[in-house]
Amino acid sequence: MKRTEATAKPFIKWAGGKGQLLSQLDEHLPQQLDGRPFTYVEPFVGGGAMLFHMLKKHPEIRRAVINDINEYLVTAYRVIKEQPQELIERLSALERQYYASDSEEAKKAFYLGAREIFNEEKLDDIDRAKYLIFLNRTCFNGLYRENAKGKFNVPFGRYLHPTICNAETILADSEALNRANVTILNGDFSETLNYLDENGMNFVYFDPPYRPLNTTSSFNSYVKEEFNDKEQIRLRNFSQELNGRLGVYWMLSNSDCSAKNPEDTFFETIYNDFYIHRVFASRAINANPTKRGKLTELLICNYMPEGYGLYAAEDRTPLNKIKK
Ligand SMILES: C[S@@+](CC[C@H](N)C(=O)[O-])C[C@H]1O[C@@H](n2cnc3c(N)ncnc32)[C@H](O)[C@@H]1O
Repeated sequence: MKRTEATAKPFIKWAGGKGQLLSQLDEHLPQQLDGRPFTYVEPFVGGGAMLFHMLKKHPEIRRAVINDINEYLVTAYRVIKEQPQELIERLSALERQYYASDSEEAKKAFYLGAREIFNEEKLDDIDRAKYLIFLNRTCFNGLYRENAKGKFNVPFGRYLHPTICNAETILADSEALNRANVTILNGDFSETLNYLDENGMNFVYFDPPYRPLNTTSSFNSYVKEEFNDKEQIRLRNFSQELNGRLGVYWMLSNSDCSAKNPEDTFFETIYNDFYIHRVFASRAINANPTKRGKLTELLICNYMPEGYGLYAAEDRTPLNKIKK
């Protein structure tokens, strides 16, 4: 395959994308992994900002395993890994057809037609990935959301001139996925358990759907199944099980519910046995720009990252702000 100069990065915009948080996440990686080969596991991969960052910055990764419950997203990862050229050809043809529509109304009609095909037709994997990326570029706010029947239901987005086929990113991602021979799974997060390296070191990064800060503000409908408190506890039980295994380090992101409501100590309670940090995140997914301010998020680890002793449990100053 042709080598590209472009950087591997998310090929799709995904709610909860970690692009803004990468340096903070990297700072909290376990020192125990420094310079040693390890297996990287991401059970809720979404847009893969952390995955592509890790593959680039940590060449000591020996093997990587990613998973998501969203079947179409996983299909897109597989197509990008195995058939990037075919995807580029079909996606750029669709892009040309879209831009051949001269009015906004015609573009909107084209979008709705593509959404209908995506929801109603049986497609091969390349077309499935093609429509997923096309809809992501042209829909409102660039997000993926399903209704109760499991149909993609985001309205048209009215961007000025979005790039629909970013061939360089697709090729760079393909190269990164092949270089680390990434195993791509489609299922529940718990299924990644069977892919850990029992004889070596593992690093697992969990980025589950966030627990809502209140009932109206938060987005977590990536798929029709809800990720409720019962699911958050099931994930805690899973992370606890991993903690009992030799050579498994994990880090988990979630919302900082007690910053919003001091009485809501859900995460402090269920992750009582682990290390809880706060980091600043700027959320861009809120449609209302006035609500896109800086929020803190939780980073929970089963190991003690560097500088942890400087952090007091009741102190809301993020660790990276007081460390230096
Ligand atoms: C917060 S997003 C991940 C964001 C991602 N790290 C990024 O940078 O874009 C959560 C992901 O978890 C997936 N998901 C929801 N329930 C799941 C489950 N039970 N098992 C595995 N994945 C699940 C969703 O489809 C979604 O892609």
